[in-house]
Amino acid sequence: MTAPRETSIRMLYDGSTIADRVERIAERLAENHTRDRLMVAILKGSFVFAADLMRALMRAGVDADIDFLRLSSYGQGTSSSGTVTVLCDVAAEIADRDVVVIDDILDTGRTLAFAREHLLARGARSVETVALIDKPARRQVRIQADHAGFRCEDVFVVGYGIDMGQRYRGLPFIGHVVEDAPER
Ligand code: IMP
Ligand code: MG
Repeated sequence: MTAPRETSIRMLYDGSTIADRVERIAERLAENHTRDRLMVAILKGSFVFAADLMRALMRAGVDADIDFLRLSSYGQGTSSSGTVTVLCDVAAEIADRDVVVIDDILDTGRTLAFAREHLLARGARSVETVALIDKPARRQVRIQADHAGFRCEDVFVVGYGIDMGQRYRGLPFIGHVVEDAPER
């Protein structure tokens, strides 16, 4: 019989590295801000990133409007089911507005591609995309983030709002989940 494996978190990006990246993204977004622009954060994973991005935008001189789109997620596992559904739609009026979609991770691309199509179908004039973490190796759908914080290899990450089975969202850094070898 093998002993159960323990998981531990190996740091990838610490809090101040993330803060720097968020500041840079906000500065770039501030360059072409329009009054009608709406930020749309995809829940739940992007809530910490979106909160920090809003405050960085304010420092960059932009008092942005934000709303939320809750999409179906991985559930308990660590691999995508392939279909995305709307659990809770954006309440704000979207028609003829420039929308910036904010997500935590761009992985297969299905979530962000779905969000973009959904917002365009609701009448958005344009949809720009922001992902804190881009995992290009895993892409299944042709989509790129207009703004990405970090490019990362194919590892499962948690922290800074990002979960594994609803755990680790409160970690102040982003880490990579590793399974420790069982003790012999
Ligand atoms: P995609 O639809 O495959 O691009 O996946 C995007 C969504 O999957 C993100 O919004 C995350 O919620 C989730 N996801 C992808 N990779 C990870 C990961 O490494 N850790 C936790 N969640 C992830
Ligand atoms: Mg997500």
